[in-house]
Amino acid sequence: MEDVRLGVIGFGLRKSLATAAHHPGSGSRVVAVADTDPAALATAVSLIDGVDTVADYRTLLDRSDIDGIVVMTPDHTHLRVATDVLEAGKAAYVEKPLGITVEECDAILATAHRTGTRLYVGHNMRHMGVVRLMRDIIARGEIGAVQTIWVRHFVGHGGDFYFKDWHAQRANTTSLLLQKAAHDIDVLHWLANGYAQRVSAFGDLRVYNRVTDRLGPDQPKHDDWYAPEKHWPPLAQSGLHHEIDVEDVSLVNMVLDNGVLAAYQQCHFTPDYWRNYTVIGDAGRLENFGDGPGGVVKVWNSKRSGYRADADAVHDIPGATQLHGGADPLIMAEFCRFVRDGGTTDTSPVAARMSVAAGVSATVSLRAGGVPQDVPALDPALAAYYANAQVR
Ligand SMILES: NC(=O)c1ccc[n+]([C@@H]2O[C@H](COP(=O)([O-])OP(=O)(O)OC[C@H]3O[C@@H](n4cnc5c(N)ncnc54)[C@H](O)[C@@H]3O)[C@@H](O)[C@H]2O)c1
Repeated sequence: MEDVRLGVIGFGLRKSLATAAHHPGSGSRVVAVADTDPAALATAVSLIDGVDTVADYRTLLDRSDIDGIVVMTPDHTHLRVATDVLEAGKAAYVEKPLGITVEECDAILATAHRTGTRLYVGHNMRHMGVVRLMRDIIARGEIGAVQTIWVRHFVGHGGDFYFKDWHAQRANTTSLLLQKAAHDIDVLHWLANGYAQRVSAFGDLRVYNRVTDRLGPDQPKHDDWYAPEKHWPPLAQSGLHHEIDVEDVSLVNMVLDNGVLAAYQQCHFTPDYWRNYTVIGDAGRLENFGDGPGGVVKVWNSKRSGYRADADAVHDIPGATQLHGGADPLIMAEFCRFVRDGGTTDTSPVAARMSVAAGVSATVSLRAGGVPQDVPALDPALAAYYANAQVR
């Protein structure tokens, strides 16, 4: 079997995804990297043997030795870059979130549909051990039929990751409620087997607006911008982005199209960094403690009681200790299989669009003081195309 040959556009923080896909002779290899930053290209050369590097991504589009392209540029560039890749007939892996507006997502879905080029969206949490374990528990009927899901995201490293660069501005992300929550909204849609139809949200910028140590508009991040052991408490942060107009805490309630009720909460100034899911069915409840290997998912389903730490079942969370619980090699393997053979995948472009649509609608609600918003539905013709595994 020949290697799937990949191009990569954008080799920043997410570069680990590209290196996870580079296995010459074993199924996939990265042949070229495009990035507008020469330092990023130098890093690519140091990490990937024999890789070609270019500043202008368009030079990758007509290369006959590239089968698929991984798009890892900032969120607000996805529409331009992804549609160029799809128009060129190269299978596209687009990092989450698919876009920063519903219109952008729909344009990307429509371009893939019109050109017949394969589209894959990088919701790597669907390959995380904790998510797959919760899904398996639900599928086995251990908690009955899902009725409500409550997700709390403690984004302990939020100050480092989201308030020192492009993430801090609405123009690049719409909101962190979309940017960061796209992961968990997608997961809760997957666990509930439905999509948010109506949302109401509150949120605010309560901490990072008070940090006065800011970078100048063209000043690079400090060398020690990421230092979990150092940047505490949050108000002691330094080198934040010169302009911050996204919220650092947000709360959303959702009604899904199958009646499931869901809640999602995100905070960027917690001391700890992890996600906690509670899924309640009509015959039990599950909850994760820790979200990677070493953690557990507990299930209570035999009787009513006060809190029982031992639960009725305690399942170890599988996965690797690498970043994202080892999800990145798994998602790249699925993408390469999809490039080669097509077919169904565990990730879904429609679900990716629906997580953005819920995040956008929640942001509108949040900025309107919590006024409930309907989540825009997808064009049924596009929904049908993607439901048929992108085959007409
Ligand atoms: N799935 C996940 O777990 C996960 C984690 C982190 C980031 N992401 C997503 O990955 C994407 C990249 O995030 P990041 O944190 O690596 O950002 P980053 O800012 O660290 O890197 C982006 C890179 O893209 C380059 N770039 C920007 N515009 C370009 C263009 N027109 N042509 C070529 N290169 C260009 C930049 O120079 C930079 O090197 C984002 O969409 C982000 O939301 C996903």
